Amino acid sequence: MKIANYAQLALLLTYSLSVVSTVPAQRSITARVLPNELNLMPVPASVQPQPGRLAITNAFTVATKGYADDRLRANINRMTRRLAGRTVLTLPLELAVDENTATLVVQCTGAANPVPSLNEDESYSLEITDKQARLNAPTVVGAIRGLETFLQLLSADRDGYYLSGVRINDRPRFPWRGLLIDVARHFQPLDVLKRNLDGMAAVKLNVFHWHLSEDQGFRVESKKFPKLHTMGSDGLYYTQDQVREIIAYAADRGIRVMPEFDIPGHSTSWLVGYPELGSAPGPYKIERGAGIFEPVLDPTRDQTYKFLDGFLGEMAALFPDAYLHIGGDENEGKQWDRNPQIQAFMKEKGIKDNHALQAYFNQRILKILQKYGKKMIGWEEILHGDLPKDAVIHSWRGPGSLAEAARKGYNGILSAGYYIDLIFPASQHYRADPLPADTTLTPDEAKHVLGGEATMWSEWVSPDTIDSRIWPRTAAIAERLWSPRTVTDVDDMYRRLAVISRQLEELGLTHEKNYPVLLRRLSNSENIGPLATLASVLEPVKEYRRYQVRPQTMISPLTGLVDAARPDSEAARQFASMVEGMLGDVPRYRLYRSEIRDSLAGWRDAGTALDLMIDRAPGLEEARPLARNLADVAATGLEAMDHLTTGDVATIMWRDAQLAKLDEAAKPKAALELVIIPAVRKLVIAAAEVSPAK
Ligand code: ACM
Repeated sequence: MKIANYAQLALLLTYSLSVVSTVPAQRSITARVLPNELNLMPVPASVQPQPGRLAITNAFTVATKGYADDRLRANINRMTRRLAGRTVLTLPLELAVDENTATLVVQCTGAANPVPSLNEDESYSLEITDKQARLNAPTVVGAIRGLETFLQLLSADRDGYYLSGVRINDRPRFPWRGLLIDVARHFQPLDVLKRNLDGMAAVKLNVFHWHLSEDQGFRVESKKFPKLHTMGSDGLYYTQDQVREIIAYAADRGIRVMPEFDIPGHSTSWLVGYPELGSAPGPYKIERGAGIFEPVLDPTRDQTYKFLDGFLGEMAALFPDAYLHIGGDENEGKQWDRNPQIQAFMKEKGIKDNHALQAYFNQRILKILQKYGKKMIGWEEILHGDLPKDAVIHSWRGPGSLAEAARKGYNGILSAGYYIDLIFPASQHYRADPLPADTTLTPDEAKHVLGGEATMWSEWVSPDTIDSRIWPRTAAIAERLWSPRTVTDVDDMYRRLAVISRQLEELGLTHEKNYPVLLRRLSNSENIGPLATLASVLEPVKEYRRYQVRPQTMISPLTGLVDAARPDSEAARQFASMVEGMLGDVPRYRLYRSEIRDSLAGWRDAGTALDLMIDRAPGLEEARPLARNLADVAATGLEAMDHLTTGDVATIMWRDAQLAKLDEAAKPKAALELVIIPAVRKLVIAAAEVSPAK
């Protein structure tokens, strides 16, 4: 995330709105794809329930048949440890020798490429009968995907743990399913990366896009140009051994690791140690702000390419993936405009504008990458008439660039719609499809669409909060990229997401665990009840507003209420759903009248109690108006419920006064929004309608 200008913001907003408005109401028309009791995510390509159930007891064993290697055995072992952890059963470490009596038989036809690749066969089939589970896969990576499905099939009842009979045939819809983690703006230690790689594997994502350099930090050790990491990182970088450790960890889970070195813009941190690469004399300092900055490499000097040849050669040897991402985004070329030598160069070569100059730069970088056996990928700005067809386009400002690239014969991946740093709900990301049903691409053009990536830009995440921005929403994106296009039921997605979110915690992910930790620190107390209640109905402001309404820098602590609060409030979503059902007069929702009241009363009381808590916790002072808003909004909701349940229709004057108050309360404070307000508005409006009789 790096948008700093309003034109781009408007573009992004238009896109997000169009995504919402062009999708028909799915809820009623989409058949449930899975039987209700299955909690698979992503939904497999084909699921056929079968009779029977396979009990999981401490007699559980696994056998392999056909091809097996260390990677397969390690994955079976980890799956068994997780199964043991979930069932509290002591399960053996050793594989069974007898295939006939093993509970699970894993049968691979052959190895997979030890370096995971785009062309990996990830398919598998899984059959559960009351006697045995059989997982078949052509490659070890397919088996790894199937082992995750096996774990997700675990159910329980009073007779114990079991897997229901089922026949699954599964393969991904798209071969490129990624998560970008920006470790440059905020450095993320190895354990953060490892637990997120585990999370990725759990939902069958297969590309870790490692955004390693930015204006705000250069995060890899370079032995050839050590001033990159020693002067550009505040000491926070990965050694080459640590890079290899992450690559091995990912490969063990069938995940590619694609590095990104963002050039020619977004490069301030390079210039701190090597100012001679820049298009202005410097000196340069590591950037502490957020946004788009001017420093840019000088594309006119042979020295620049000599340096990049050395550096990219070193990185090409360190990272085994076939692709290397060169960034290429958001270069406005202001330093180029002001540099007479660069202007003279452009004139001499007939380069007509900055975009063409960047295309010239990309051409030369492409040759360097080809020399080192790498394929080039870059953000959509690299799309230019002269770009050779084997470059891959990474679409981020809107899906149009992906379609344009595909029409022109370039492979591409989509991130527009998957910007998880923007705090949109999972449902919105879920609706963004790299190849929507109404695509205008021909089948041949559509083959150029390889998949997509969620992007965790790290302006406003620390190691303590990053998991809560990635999970569980990224599981919904993972489903969009793996499952058939017809899997679109949002309610069913949320039902399964809640289950998967808990399972992700087993991997050490902290999206739930850190929530009370952050609130305890903030409240300066053990008793976080009222604060947790408030935070549960707050969401950080969306898009790029956070920086505008609550400016901070890269060295500001990320320990405020806006950091503790999470996207996609479940409490607000459930409340909205109860209100909608009650007002829609769905008979079963009558039951919810008292729950709606209870929720509102709880919010009113928490809002009041918070005043005292804030007196003791100055770090929470900015939350005081939110606490008051919560109490007031809840009181309004309770009044509306009185009207609705007694049939005493509220006056228009009352309604309008309440709506005005709600509008005031809806304004963000401390970069947070009270997200129950739309549902309370509905109650207020209904309360003044004649004979609502709810
Ligand atoms: C980007 O968000 N500038 C790729």
